[in-house]
Amino acid sequence: MKVAIGSDHAGFELKEMISHIVKEMGNEVIDMGTGSSCSVDYPDYAEAVADAVSKGKVERGILICGTGIGMSIVANKFKNVRAALCNDLFTAKMSRLHNDANILCLGGRIIGKDLAKEIVYIWFSTPFEGGRHEKRLEKINLIERKVINS
Ligand code: RB5
Repeated sequence: MKVAIGSDHAGFELKEMISHIVKEMGNEVIDMGTGSSCSVDYPDYAEAVADAVSKGKVERGILICGTGIGMSIVANKFKNVRAALCNDLFTAKMSRLHNDANILCLGGRIIGKDLAKEIVYIWFSTPFEGGRHEKRLEKINLIERKVINS
């Protein structure tokens, strides 16, 4: 799978570690920055990753800031993006099963490395359940089109 990853300064350290484990899982990782712990603005990195997912250049994205909130707010403005803020295992699993989330947002100041690793494993290994959830995703697409045309 092709995966784009991005963070701001608050998520930088976790991004480096996660990037490594996502590669180890057999994925191709495109690192969209940031490249250090120097202060930057999270919308710039959320835009880069969400745009790549939105246009189908990558299948999945991972975004990390201090809480994960800023990244998820920005990412969900993009068409076809279903970004899920998952700082626990249950949410990570459900975001795939029910929401077919294609971007995982994490809070670098909220979770430790071991939990982050588990979240990433579960998020990549859990399939979308489909069925009754399919029509709900279709409704999201309809809303997206309505909002764009309004
Ligand atoms: C940066 O200080 C912090 O605001 C950012 O990483 C993030 O938590 C925003 O949602």
